[in-house]
Amino acid sequence: MAKDTLTITDNRTGKSYEVPIEHGAIRALDLRQIKVADDDFGILAYDPAFMNTASCRSRITYIDGDKGILRYRGYPIEELAEQGTYLETAYLILYGELPTARELDEWVHNITYHTFIHENIKKFMDGFHYDAHPMGILVSTVAALSTFYTEAKNIFDPESRRKQTHRLIAKMPTLAAFAYRHSRGMPYAYPDNDLSYAGNFLNMLFKMTEAKYQPNRTLERALDVLFILHADHEQNCSTNAMRSVGSSHVDPYSAVAAAAAALYGPLHGGANEAVLRMLGEIGSKDKVPGFIKRVKAGEGRLMGFGHRVYKNYDPRAKIIKRAAEEVFEVTGKNPLIDIAVELERIALEDDYFIQRKLYPNVDFYSGIIYEAMGFPMEMFPVLFAIPRTSGWIAQWDEMLADPEQKIARPRQVYLGSALRKFVPREKRRA
Ligand code: SDX
Repeated sequence: MAKDTLTITDNRTGKSYEVPIEHGAIRALDLRQIKVADDDFGILAYDPAFMNTASCRSRITYIDGDKGILRYRGYPIEELAEQGTYLETAYLILYGELPTARELDEWVHNITYHTFIHENIKKFMDGFHYDAHPMGILVSTVAALSTFYTEAKNIFDPESRRKQTHRLIAKMPTLAAFAYRHSRGMPYAYPDNDLSYAGNFLNMLFKMTEAKYQPNRTLERALDVLFILHADHEQNCSTNAMRSVGSSHVDPYSAVAAAAAALYGPLHGGANEAVLRMLGEIGSKDKVPGFIKRVKAGEGRLMGFGHRVYKNYDPRAKIIKRAAEEVFEVTGKNPLIDIAVELERIALEDDYFIQRKLYPNVDFYSGIIYEAMGFPMEMFPVLFAIPRTSGWIAQWDEMLADPEQKIARPRQVYLGSALRKFVPREKRRA
């Protein structure tokens, strides 16, 4: 009768070992019993970049990379983007269920009334150069929040964690908007509690001399949908950073700063900025075949394409592409979209991309919308970090509650020098 086990034979000793298979995985620790001698450390699993290693068991987000499926707590991303709001989705990701009307009202109230930041933060924000990258400002100012809310260190106090959750989700847009206004040499625009989460963000970014900023409803909804699409994505690089740094039991502001720093990289959340630069360099549709040729020759990557998990079209990219049309009705068409659509058309027909299962990912079209909405390229990864904050916190919460989790401390395969004695300087040779 079939058993959920793996039998491993060590051909060095002829011994066999039976290890259980649970949820499609074996425990790497079960390999340590495989030894050639009693003082042998045992077999390690070697997996650079964790290509085939589960770091945790999670109930938050499910992705099927082959089928292009993404679900938050079981709900398809398409339905959440169509019918939900970002704060409603953040609640779902954090607490596992869609909020009732009363729960949602209380949740929105709690977030709305934590959007202000300490006035001192403006002082060190003013210290950045005018052209400081807003992600650099965001990473450092969110870390600095840990010095204002020292009770955040009580990470096992549920009430403290809930309060820091409200503060982080509420204040990330404020920090981001202040960084933007600083880069433009403009006065800071304070939160307006009459507005929605996305509407208030637009207000803090773009309010000029009008007494009260009125967000364009189409752009407000498009931004909220983009926030929904970016809220979580299981164990991506920045979430791995959040869990790993959080496993040392540091406060959540410092852990979010580490996660945002990981997201800043051009292979991760920085890709949407890299896509716009790439489209700008290509310049026109007729230059696309030449660019594709250079990518296939290994002279750079088609940014916004490819994914560690999706080996099919990223479902988020499809939704963003549709949202672009609605945004362009308000802002006018961003001509870069024609180059992007031509890039996608040619790439999806080309064996190089087909064989490597490279499809557009979430970053391929998002930057085009952001640029059309008036955001500078440097703000694009910031627009990724804001909504992903709820996913990072949910994953951090889950890690803290997991009895199997400890401080993250991987092993290594050591290939360095064997024991050797110190050499006096006069005896060293270059
Ligand atoms: C995000 O993990 C997540 O969930 C992330 C994210 C989230 O929501 O958190 O979805 C957000 O980060 C999306 C990805 C944004 N990054 C980019 O668009 C940057 C461009 N894409 C890549 O650099 C790459 O596809 C990655 C980083 C996304 C995935 O890299 P992998 O899984 O490590 O794949 P790989 O680098 O080993 O590539 C496999 C092959 C290689 O070719 P060979 O060496 O086998 O010949 O595919 C090639 C790569 O050269 N390849 C590409 C390519 N991506 C991979 N070739 C051209 N253009 C690309 N974009």
